[in-house]
Order: sequence, then structure tokens, then C-alpha cells
Amino acid sequence: MREWSSFDTISKGKGIWLIDAKGNKIIDAVGSMWCNVWGHSNPQLIKAITKQSKQIQHSSLFNLTNEPVERLAKNLIKISPGMNKVFYSDNGSSAMEIAIKMALQYWKNIGDTKKTQIATIENGYHGDTFGAMSVGYVPEFFGKFKKQLFSTIQFPVPNEYRLPKGFSLSDYQNHCLEKIEKRFSKNNDIAAFIMESGAQMAGGVIIYPKGFQKKISELCKKYNILFVLDEIATGFGRLGSMVQYQDQKSIPDIVAYGKMLTGGYLTMAATLANKKIYDSFSGDFNDWKHLFHGHTYTGNPIAAAVANENLQMYEKHNLIKKVQKTSKIFENYSQEILDIDIVGDVRHKGMLMGIELVSNKKRKTPIRTKKSINKVFFEEGKKQGIYLRTLGNIVMLVPPLSIQENELELLIKKTIKTIQIAKSKTF
Ligand SMILES: Cc1ncc(COP(=O)(O)O)c(C=O)c1O
Repeated sequence: MREWSSFDTISKGKGIWLIDAKGNKIIDAVGSMWCNVWGHSNPQLIKAITKQSKQIQHSSLFNLTNEPVERLAKNLIKISPGMNKVFYSDNGSSAMEIAIKMALQYWKNIGDTKKTQIATIENGYHGDTFGAMSVGYVPEFFGKFKKQLFSTIQFPVPNEYRLPKGFSLSDYQNHCLEKIEKRFSKNNDIAAFIMESGAQMAGGVIIYPKGFQKKISELCKKYNILFVLDEIATGFGRLGSMVQYQDQKSIPDIVAYGKMLTGGYLTMAATLANKKIYDSFSGDFNDWKHLFHGHTYTGNPIAAAVANENLQMYEKHNLIKKVQKTSKIFENYSQEILDIDIVGDVRHKGMLMGIELVSNKKRKTPIRTKKSINKVFFEEGKKQGIYLRTLGNIVMLVPPLSIQENELELLIKKTIKTIQIAKSKTF
């Protein structure tokens, strides 16, 4: 993209601040792509990395194991009700590819050849690799590859701000669920239902209405369909609970974690499965039931060591309670943000806020800008001392989870100022 001809070089980080090579400081309003937990340069996390890097830096999980990954698997199982085993990878997209392969192969392993379809909800996002793009189809991102993606069965999602005419939220939620049940009850061909847990992030900060996810999990049980959750962006406290599916009362068969797993310091992801799934993969070598999947850096011990330290710190500092308390600040500013004449809707849950920008509040027309919206907000945000990234017409606030109350207030005030100034750049 020509409008991004040069980039600022970030050379340091301290707490919620990113510091560039010239010494300018900006608040990391997107938690370095939604993964930062404790802010930058946290001494305990650095210590865990340093300590492990003096032992073994990387050793494959093919035929071998290492102490940090074994410990991490136990820790992850402990916090994840219903889950039994952990499969490691090194990024969220891969964790979702693994989830898809596990779900499809499960049915083959148990001798069911009919269940080959995957059901999803519209606007979901699960990563940028081909399987992940197929199940998380966002038309603007992936339209150019449509022909190469495998087809899925997509259902609508209730978005309170953009309900079809004549529907209340609960009517529309019921309508979506009825559509799902109607399709589930036909053909017996669906292997798995895959969705983000709690909210859609990249698809526009769409926070599910109460009971939506739970009801889908119940329908999956009723019609013998695997329920697969993506908690890569929404788990680990982002929405105010450690494991979002517990909050949603919807235990999956398979769940994927990533992003905040290592506190946002190193690249690691995990796909967890229940016993039923795991058992279907065990057999004699000649049964060929094993999962053919493994990456070079699967189960990297340094990443696992920092993930273990991160998890310990969640407990030690009671982080989830703290997120619940600090995030109330979002509520205090919601109305003030909504009063800005280019803001159509403000949505928040836990340490996440989405601000939807419109050019006409009544018609809810998404705003347009001369340059890309992302560029306008990046530049104006930088002048205010914040690193902002928009997704389409939505300004997202996804700061480090441990942000202090006064820091969050500062971030929100700077965001309000940025939106007010950016107003003049829209048309
Ligand atoms: C819900 C969700 N799933 C999967 C991914 C993909 O993760 P990664 O970027 O680590 O591949 C993302 C990334 O933003 C995400 O938000």
C-alpha cells in the first residue's frame, strides 16, 4: 500500500508504552495485536525467558518432550474444564488449522464417513491460513481467495446495532438459532460447528447476546456435532474471564488458545481436546489414526516457560478480578463517546472496546475517509500519543490487560480527542 511508505521503528517498550527510536512514546492501545497482558518489559517474564534460554532453547516435540511444555499442558488442562490433552503450535492460525483437522479426522477415526461439513457463523475470523480463512470468512479480507477456500455452512450472527428491519435482538437471536437447528436436523453431515468464544473480534467487535453461544453448544450436543471454540483473542481475560466458555456455559470438544498465552512475549498457541477426541486418535501404528501435523517450533521450551510464568502471575496478582474492576472505566465513558457525531455505536466487554464510526447516525452509514481509515486514525492517534489500529470503520481499544485505571482513562481521553480531530478528515 503506497500510503504506508515508511514506518516508525519501535525500539523499546515499558508498561503500556511503546517507545520509538527517536524517543517518542505512544500508548499501545491494541496490546501489540491483542496479545499483551502485563505491559512491555515485565521483569518476571523476562527472567523466565532468560532462565529457560540458558537450559534448552529449542528441542523438537517429535518423539521427545521438555519440562516447560509438560508443565504448561497440566496448567492449561487445569484451567480448561472438560479438556484432556494439549496440542501445541506457534500461532493462532495454526492452532485453528489443527482444530479443523482434529474435528474432521475424529469422525473418520470412529468410522463415520458422512460427517464432512463445517458450520460457522458469518463474519467470524480465525486466522489467515487457508483452513482458517475458510471457516472464518471475512469477505473484505479473503474475497480474492474465495475459489480456493473450502465451503462451509454459514449462519447469521445477532448484532444488536445492525439488526434486520422489524426484529428485536431476542427475536433475531431466536431466528438465527432456529436456522441453525433447522440445518442441523437435516442430513447428519456436519462434523463441527466452529465459532469465536464470547465475541467476534476482527469481524467487528460483535459481542454475543446472552445465551447465544450456550444454545449453539446445546444444539451441537443434541445433533451429535463437535463444538469447536476459538478463544485465541477472547480467552485469558480479554472479555473479563480466564476461560470465556465457562462464562458462556458452553463446554467445547476442542478449544484453541494463543495470543495472551505467553503474556504476548513469544509466539505459541495450543489446541486442547476432550478425552473423546483424543481417544479416537490412539490406535496401533497401522490403524493410521494419528494426527499428521507438527511445526518446527511446536512446543518451544522458552515460549512454554514464559507461558507458565504468565499463568502463575494471573493467579498471584488476581488479574481477572482486576480486569473486571478496571474495565468498568469503559462504561463511564461510553455515553461521552457515543455523543460524538461520527460515533454510531460503542460496544465493550472486559478489556475490549469497539467504537463504530458512521457518517449518518440515523442510517448507520459506515464512514469513509480520503486515505484509509486505519491510516487516518494511526496518524491522528500518534499525534495524541496513542497507537491505534482500526478494523474497517471500527476503532478498537484492546490494551494490555493489566493497564491501571488512570492509564485506561488517559487512553480513552486520547481516543476521544483523536476521533474528534479525525472527524474533519471524513467524507
Ligand atoms: C479469533 C482469532 N483467531 C485466530 C487468530 C489468528 O491468530 P494468529 O494471528 O496468531 O495466527 C486471530 C488473530 O487475530 C484471532 O483474532
